[in-house]
Amino acid sequence: MEFIDTHAHLYVEQFDEDRPAVIQRAKELNINRVYLPNIDQTTIDAMLDLEANHPDACFAMMGVHPCSIKENYEEELNIAEEWLQKRPFVAIGEIGIDLYWDKTFQKEQEDAFRRQINWAKDLAIPFVIHSRDSLDLTIEIVKEEQDGSLRGIFHCFGGSVEQAKRIVDLGFLMGIGGVLTFKKAGLDKTLEEVDLEHLVLETDAPYLAPTPFRGKRNESAYIHQIAERLASVKETDIEKVANVTTSNALKLFGS
Ligand code: NI
Repeated sequence: MEFIDTHAHLYVEQFDEDRPAVIQRAKELNINRVYLPNIDQTTIDAMLDLEANHPDACFAMMGVHPCSIKENYEEELNIAEEWLQKRPFVAIGEIGIDLYWDKTFQKEQEDAFRRQINWAKDLAIPFVIHSRDSLDLTIEIVKEEQDGSLRGIFHCFGGSVEQAKRIVDLGFLMGIGGVLTFKKAGLDKTLEEVDLEHLVLETDAPYLAPTPFRGKRNESAYIHQIAERLASVKETDIEKVANVTTSNALKLFGS
């Protein structure tokens, strides 16, 4: 039985004190691979250092997070694009639209999202989507850009059955994290209607720790709590959840 954390920011300063122990704890629970979405130019060095220190366990993406799309977004995009020309990355991420914190740069966020989707198209690699308070809009943009070659993950999925169906129709996966363990979220009801073959597991560490760690720092070992909950929602065992979600992730990332 093996798990993959498809989304964790283990390179941020919240892990500076104990990063090797965090990775060790994950490995002890058979979470053998962690995929690292970038945030912006300030996080690239730390992310690539982490990957270099754990080449068998940590895999870097490249992209600019929607919350970092501001006045200087052309510069941010240029830096990410240069990195993509310099070396291979497993995916473009994380990219998308965030209308929760700030709508000031919505037009710029949409422009940056489309341009980064096109990098994924050109490089023939997947992309990982952040869609906080913008799930319908991001689905619509991916639909417009989908030429049959696009693939990826709607990270931190928390939508309706209808939205899940549209994501499945696009050929995309949904990233399931700690929110599934929150009593009031209602995601369990949605996922009863979604087949496991469309899902991958993620922590989004250090954010969104699952119950019973809610409010604390999240880490990749907590994939276990998410997998247990998903197994009970799908009325199956954790081995099945591990096998299907791991195979979904490996198929997507190609390694
Ligand atoms: Ni993230």
